[in-house]
Amino acid sequence: MAKVIINSTRKRGKINKNIYGQFAEHLGRCIYGGVYVEDESIPNIRCIRTDVVEALKQLKVPVLRWPGGCFADDYHWRDGIGEKSKRPYMVNTNWGGVVENNHFGTHEFFDLCDQIGAEPYICGNVGSGTVQEMRDWIEYMTFDGASPLADERRANGREKPWKLKYFGVGNENWGCGGGMRPEYYADLFRRYSTFVRSYGDESIYKIACGANVDDNEWTNVLMREASRHMSGISLHYYTLPTGDFQNKGDSLMFDEQDWYKTLKEAVRMDAIISGHCAIMDRYDPERKVGLIVDEWGTWYNVMPGTNPGFLYQQNTMRDAIAAILTLHIFHNHSDRVVMANIAQLINVLQSMILTEGEKMLLTPTYHIMRMMNTHQDAELIDIDYNSGKTGTGDVIVPKISVSASVKDSAMTISMCNTSLTEAEEMDIEIRDSLYSLASAELLTAGDMHDCNTFDEPEKIIPKKLGVQLNGGKLSVKLPPMSAAVITLR
Ligand code: AHR
Repeated sequence: MAKVIINSTRKRGKINKNIYGQFAEHLGRCIYGGVYVEDESIPNIRCIRTDVVEALKQLKVPVLRWPGGCFADDYHWRDGIGEKSKRPYMVNTNWGGVVENNHFGTHEFFDLCDQIGAEPYICGNVGSGTVQEMRDWIEYMTFDGASPLADERRANGREKPWKLKYFGVGNENWGCGGGMRPEYYADLFRRYSTFVRSYGDESIYKIACGANVDDNEWTNVLMREASRHMSGISLHYYTLPTGDFQNKGDSLMFDEQDWYKTLKEAVRMDAIISGHCAIMDRYDPERKVGLIVDEWGTWYNVMPGTNPGFLYQQNTMRDAIAAILTLHIFHNHSDRVVMANIAQLINVLQSMILTEGEKMLLTPTYHIMRMMNTHQDAELIDIDYNSGKTGTGDVIVPKISVSASVKDSAMTISMCNTSLTEAEEMDIEIRDSLYSLASAELLTAGDMHDCNTFDEPEKIIPKKLGVQLNGGKLSVKLPPMSAAVITLR
């Protein structure tokens, strides 16, 4: 039995809704086939898939990062504007060497954000782009006055400037974005970001390329040399069951040990964030600079028979639990972590949605992100509990994880049980508040390998969870490998 105490009156700060952000790259079938189709037999609005838009609206995606990823530092925005048939094509050298026809560009991206109600977050090109190219893109998108670039935007069909809140100055510039040393990138960041001018009323939130995993030295140099010039700094950490990029393991064919190893790697996020936060606190004790985990999620070997450059993988309860564990970690660091973008939206890595022609399915990760979306912009509440332990051999992970928040007089409590074999009785005491039960949803699977397929798209879907609420005490039984979200009002 797990005893959980929720101290309703002790607020720990706001959970920034952007922690529930998404990432869409020109990679494999994320954009083409996933978001964007030029096939009239698939219902769409201006080529953006209607089924996908409807599903994403339910998620309440707060912010969407685009166009990469590694693709961003190879992308030249001018190729993606104007008459589609005249747009130059290029080879997507990072991802499978396929032809990119640039039919999805700036206008189409803002249209997608508009259709799903997400704030755009654009990542600019530092690795192979010029300062002028970056400054011109900003002017093209956001300048309201008369200028050749603003007029060109108007000629391309967009009269009013777009509102662009978030802009990334390069991606993984220590790797695919230019193989730079932190000192060199820090100088480039200062230079490029100077020309990311704010033409509108709101200033653009400038995000510096941050560290890979636990490269604390990168964060140290960037914070020392450039923190005065940035609004946020990024962090990339992917969960690999083996911890090894050469052989990452399979998204469906895995054993018990792989299950626990994956979850163990997922909770490493906590220590990684703490390491970077400690350095950031030295240079920025007032916590003005946000930590933006703009790539995270599980990463396995590609599905057999698919293009190795397309990073297509399936999704099981293991992924949903890795997601809830990670989101709870972000909640607990919400004094510094102000945005996170799971990789990626559709058909790539830990996706929310998979498509095949006109068919679409929602993954277990989609369901958990949807179930948890009432945490967005809510006040995190202090809770006491012992997470316990489970696992196999020397692979030990927390057995349960719980998080609670309050917004608009509703309390959201999310929780998971990582054990493959043992249920957990949860005894949750809600102190100093009188709530009634509003809803309770459970996500679980009969077998750890279960997944949603195009033949059986609803194998894993949320179900109603039986819960007792008596005098401020909640009793819940969490089955093995499950996650639940309870709402009280
Ligand atoms: O998400 C896939 C890739 O992972 C991104 O393009 C890159 O930034 C990271 O290495």
